Amino acid sequence: MSSPTDDGKSGRRDVKNHLLFEIATEVANRVGGIYSVLKSKAPITTLEYGDRYTLIGPLNRASAAVEVEQIPLKKGPLKDTLDAMAERGITYIYGRWLIDGAPRVLLFDTGTAYSHLNEWKTDLWNIAGIPAPPSDDETNEAVVFGYIVAWFLGEFSARETSKAIVAHFHEWLASVGLPLCRKRRIDVTTIFTTHATLLGRYLCAGSVDFYNNLQYFDVDAEAGKRGIYHRYCIERAAAHSADVFTTVSHITAFESEHLLKRKPDGVLPNGLNVVKFAAMHEFQNLHAQSKEKIHDFIRGHFYGHNDFDLENTLYFFTAGRYEYRNKGCDMFIESLARLNHRLKTSGSKMTVVAFIIMPAQTHSLTVESLKGQAVIKALHDTVKVIEGSIGKRLFDRALRWSEGQDLPDEKELMHAQEKIMLKRRIFAMKRHSLPPIVTHNMVDDNNDPILNQIRRVQLFNHPSDRVKVIFHPEFLNSSNPVLPLDYDDFVRGTHLGVFASYYEPWGYTPAECTVMGVPSITTNLSGFGCYMEELIENSSDYGIYIVDRRMKGVNESVEQLTDYMFEFATKTRRQRINQRNRTERLSDLLDWKRMGLEYVKARQLALRRAYPANFESGEPFPFFDGTEHKVSRPLSAPGSPRDRSGMMTPGDFASLQEGMEGLTTDDYVGWRLP
Ligand code: UDP
Ligand code: G6P
Ligand code: GLC
Repeated sequence: MSSPTDDGKSGRRDVKNHLLFEIATEVANRVGGIYSVLKSKAPITTLEYGDRYTLIGPLNRASAAVEVEQIPLKKGPLKDTLDAMAERGITYIYGRWLIDGAPRVLLFDTGTAYSHLNEWKTDLWNIAGIPAPPSDDETNEAVVFGYIVAWFLGEFSARETSKAIVAHFHEWLASVGLPLCRKRRIDVTTIFTTHATLLGRYLCAGSVDFYNNLQYFDVDAEAGKRGIYHRYCIERAAAHSADVFTTVSHITAFESEHLLKRKPDGVLPNGLNVVKFAAMHEFQNLHAQSKEKIHDFIRGHFYGHNDFDLENTLYFFTAGRYEYRNKGCDMFIESLARLNHRLKTSGSKMTVVAFIIMPAQTHSLTVESLKGQAVIKALHDTVKVIEGSIGKRLFDRALRWSEGQDLPDEKELMHAQEKIMLKRRIFAMKRHSLPPIVTHNMVDDNNDPILNQIRRVQLFNHPSDRVKVIFHPEFLNSSNPVLPLDYDDFVRGTHLGVFASYYEPWGYTPAECTVMGVPSITTNLSGFGCYMEELIENSSDYGIYIVDRRMKGVNESVEQLTDYMFEFATKTRRQRINQRNRTERLSDLLDWKRMGLEYVKARQLALRRAYPANFESGEPFPFFDGTEHKVSRPLSAPGSPRDRSGMMTPGDFASLQEGMEGLTTDDYVGWRLP
């Protein structure tokens, strides 16, 4: 076979049994949606690759301590490479990520390479013209991690010469290695998936009419104005130096084409690891169980003001990284105020409690939050003790009863001392202030955008309000003393997720709701929203409501969101249960078993571009057996989700194929220029 070509690629490598590395900063380290991609995809990727698959990330010791189990390295090229790096001072952890699929992970301690920082920055400038100012810690970290990854891939590919190697990089932060692989002509084939663009995030967070101006931005100037020119250079270099460039939705493909100046080769939509229960309605039972736990929290949070009926209370929520405008918090809160007004004027008996779960800087939980849970627990404990004593007395008296006597008198069953105890508990629940909005002490309460918007629309949890608001400025977890639920369990207990995003390349949160059978509202500016709109007719029947933020003005979109929420609040319990059943049936559409096919195609394309000689038969994707993966129509859906069978994969929308070059923006399915 052929010898190494100009780009360093050797035709001798076995492409069929290739090795796969996925490189990202969120490996075993939760920040946002990229962690969800890697974690939920692990079962199908390990199924396909077994030990030929390894994830590479920077080491976060706190997170790795709970998420990773270290395992010894076997003799071979990987061990030799890492031994050689260790000799030069690089520390790492190699082990299994403790998640479904248990993939192997290699986490490099970037701290052990900072002595090279200046040398590497100079090199980056010399070889790629990418500047790196001294004070940007995030960029420093990206540079150090990128150079370690390139070092690793270079040494490893020189030792492992029999198999082809695919290196798949996610997001700019993990992508400095890409231009290095190209410049050093490292014998690997590369994929870059961007999960957003830097400029997109920054421009949208300001007040720019982003989507109508996408084609016209002077990208360098805009990046410069925002102080992110160097980061932008890294992202753009990554997009241009990868063998295959992809993103997560058509809307972001369009954006990437204009902002990064390379048209993506295809779209890799995000899937989920869908867990099917043996009993079909198990997810409904789980809803009821989790809702009970949310009820417990509410009783404590609203102590002294439990004047609304929990049987007629609906839980709405929004969640994600704190990006106020991009995640549509502004619109959500404004719509909640309008919903409050409508519920009041229509005389509705329903109460809506709206949660906002977004991590902000906080000092600690507030005393008031802790006290709320404590007083309710004390009341609960006291009632339990009294209940036990009353039961015992009642039993004794009933036992001693004889013909002719009165039946035990219930008034005598409770002792004076117990009445006092109960009174004390009840008095402890008196409070002269309204139930709080926020559960934590905020570092910057006065300038917090969410709190300010709540103040502006005056949603203060007044007894007359039909919409109550709770801001929980921290991700959820079951060891939280106030709201002791993991995020998934919390979602199950709610009724409706609301994600009014303005900038959202994909948006896992509404997708996660769907597979848990929880209806949600999203927008046609989110990748997920566009994807579902394309796939399902009348998606609102299925509990996927899509707000139009593309063609409508802001006020109209707010009204539409309010309409959806109001309409939802008028549903009966039976209607909600039915709708949850329909929502849950959409799960199959989001399963990685289907979505993962785009990853398979991307890797094939990368191999084909790097090692064309191995693909001379002309077969488009020689190792991909599409016949196994037909899309089935959700069981009871009456003809609605568009039934496309045969070789249909998410790629029918995502079109990952050679020869995209001559195509126009009309290729972006479900996404057209206004
Ligand atoms: N999430 C979480 N805990 C929470 C709230 C959210 O783990 O308390 C996760 C959620 O499951 C989702 C991710 O945060 O997977 C957010 O991903 P998304 O794609 O919606 O947005 P991103 O933050 O990546 O922009
Ligand atoms: C699930 C449970 C039912 C419960 C219902 C409450 O379907 O299986 O037992 O009545 O949830 O629904 P809701 O929408 O009122 O929370
Ligand atoms: C990014 C995007 C989000 C997407 C996630 C995973 O963080 O903001 O919309 O779901 O990546 O692709």
